Amino acid sequence: MTSPDSALRAPADAAHVLARCRDVVRPALTEAVGRMHPWVGEMAAYSFGWCEVGGTPAVASGGKGVRQALAVLGAEAAGAPGRAGVPAAVAVELVHTFSLLHDDIMDGDAARRRRPTVWKAYGTGPAVLAGDALFALAVETLAAGPGGPQGVRVLSVALGDLVRGQADDLLFAGRPWTGPSRVRPEQYRTMAEHKTGALLGCAAALGALLGGAAPSLVDALDRAGRHLGIAFQIVDDVLGIWGDPAVTGKPVYGDLRERKKTYPVLAALDSGGRAVRRLATLLDTGEDPEEAAALIETAGGRSAAMAEARRHLAAVEAALADAALDARAVDDLRALLEYLVRRDV
Ligand code: IPE
Ligand code: MG
Ligand code: MG
Repeated sequence: MTSPDSALRAPADAAHVLARCRDVVRPALTEAVGRMHPWVGEMAAYSFGWCEVGGTPAVASGGKGVRQALAVLGAEAAGAPGRAGVPAAVAVELVHTFSLLHDDIMDGDAARRRRPTVWKAYGTGPAVLAGDALFALAVETLAAGPGGPQGVRVLSVALGDLVRGQADDLLFAGRPWTGPSRVRPEQYRTMAEHKTGALLGCAAALGALLGGAAPSLVDALDRAGRHLGIAFQIVDDVLGIWGDPAVTGKPVYGDLRERKKTYPVLAALDSGGRAVRRLATLLDTGEDPEEAAALIETAGGRSAAMAEARRHLAAVEAALADAALDARAVDDLRALLEYLVRRDV
């Protein structure tokens, strides 16, 4: 896995990796969005951070493009040029955006990346339609590419999992904090793998598939992405409670106030310790999130969450070590995953 010259190379920088991959994908993504109905295409461009409402040039910046980068790096990991992964990159980026449009409606969220969400800016019906259009365009892009039906099948499996994860996420909200029908940490893990990990894994796997990789390599990248999704989600949860709002851009104790079923909370409640009853009461009322955070920490929720995140990062490493992947692409993949979960918690 370590190529002879790797010691001579500077460590890959995630921002550069992301920018390089965005540059490879951008023309094809712009072309695909350009084929949409103009109004629907504007909503898509708004979601990508390319324009404001009404189509005026963007003042905000768009998403990082993690999924498109994974697809490009997946192709490179298979020994192909990054451009071989472009149809996969376009498809996963379109699907990701589609899932966010619909997710913001499901969650009733009014803002994303410090701007009004599409349903707030354009209306719920139009936002549903734009999501549908993005989904259709993703399938069309992939079907027309060299991956053909196999590529579409890989994407469909990931989408099925994403729906499963979203369904569980929505259902978790109505479950009690304690008692036999409480949400267990392992149920959260499955939800996070489905909701977030499936598309990350699919991005890298599809890129590799288009790069001509052997099935074992495609599987290894899919596995890596799924574990990365779980680790990312758990770190996000820890930051949602103990992170610095100036860094996270999220309100302090936001997840506790919103009574989200996050991993540290579920692990604390699962500990069966003495604090559980008091914690459940605080969580129910949304009162005193500071005391709730302290109780979660005392009950071991924070350390359990970090241990779990580290376990999944080790699984990512194991998956990458398993496969005969191009060393340079693996360096770039490592830079990306460190960037995604390197946050001081
Ligand atoms: C979004 O999940 C994941 C999908 C769209 C599948 P969340 O609801 O947890 O994430 P954010 O906070 O809205 O981005
Ligand atoms: Mg959401
Ligand atoms: Mg959601």
